[in-house]
Amino acid sequence: MAMMSTAVSMSGLTKEVIHKLPAFMPGEGPAAVLKKYPYLRTIHKLSSNENQLGPSPKAVAAIRDAAARLNEYPDGRASRLCAALGEFYDISPEHLFVTSGATGSLELVADVFVCPGDEAIFCWPTYLPYRRYVQRQNGIPVEVPLDSELRFDLGAMERAITDRTKLIMICNPNNPTGTAVPRDELERFLRNVPEHIIVMLDEAYIEFSRDGADASLYRLVLELPNLVVLRTFSKLYGLAGERVGYTFSGKEVHDLLSKSATFFTATALGIEAAIAALSDQEFVKKTLATIHEGRRYLTREFEALGFRVYESETNFLYIDTGFDAMSFAEALKAHGIVIRGNFELSRITIGTPEQNRLLVEAAKEIVEGDGVTKREGA
Ligand SMILES: Cc1ncc(COP(=O)(O)O)c(C=O)c1O
Repeated sequence: MAMMSTAVSMSGLTKEVIHKLPAFMPGEGPAAVLKKYPYLRTIHKLSSNENQLGPSPKAVAAIRDAAARLNEYPDGRASRLCAALGEFYDISPEHLFVTSGATGSLELVADVFVCPGDEAIFCWPTYLPYRRYVQRQNGIPVEVPLDSELRFDLGAMERAITDRTKLIMICNPNNPTGTAVPRDELERFLRNVPEHIIVMLDEAYIEFSRDGADASLYRLVLELPNLVVLRTFSKLYGLAGERVGYTFSGKEVHDLLSKSATFFTATALGIEAAIAALSDQEFVKKTLATIHEGRRYLTREFEALGFRVYESETNFLYIDTGFDAMSFAEALKAHGIVIRGNFELSRITIGTPEQNRLLVEAAKEIVEGDGVTKREGA
């Protein structure tokens, strides 16, 4: 056949499902805010639930050391990191699989288990990629509302199970609401899910919960072959930029994930950073103390301003300020503070004591002024 060059639309060559996906929308970065408000000197990014203390210093040192060997490929299955995690959690490494952030785990679980037409149940609102990765596999997202405390509604999810249900996705504590279902209630639910339905339990924020890391249900994977628990180094360990997450699961699910995963699931620097961060429990303690103190302080101050603060078990707060969430976020930007304004209510990452103080001052000024639109129904 002669090779002829004709104008072809790339979109005519793609899978149909790609057309249906919403475009990826990157968040507004500090540079864009500085451009809009050139008088600002510092931007406090309290919009992505990142660790405001920075990364673990031990992780930074490990990255420096490892940088000299960047010519080498990493271990494709991050076995040293799995061994370190296995020791830390007292579980055999065959139950651990390292991915590119917990988002990578989520994508992989959907890729392995969701077939076209399969239903995946989760509550809404939750972490946005749940919907996207189910749709990407031509699965059907089945979204049920959160309960009245904005936690995952286990009863509603159980009632939503049909013959076509393949996957149940649970975010506990939940993003964006920060709220959590108690451990024993969740355990009862997990034990009742039929084995032919995979349950993905996303514990990205579990260490920040009221009972700390003890609230985790990861050990249940030793009993429940259909359970996959997701964790990440992005939040508590301050390594969001390195993209390291992992799953706990039974051996059978582990092997299926490994078969389907990309050849190199983590970078060499990410692996070294994660091993070092795991050993830096001083940094972990400092982070937890900062979050617990900040959570108490901001809750107290926001409630004094008349805001409704949902009980957070995470490193962020979900609050009803009475203002339209987008307008409130815009008003905070003028003070150099970036939060998430694209949910129904306002989601704000807990910062350092100084950031929290600036945030409260800015919120007070906004309340005392009259330039911000009220939320409908507030
Ligand atoms: C609930 C939840 N799960 C998973 C993730 C993904 O974390 P990462 O991919 O950075 O590990 C996030 C990130 O914000 C999250 O909020």
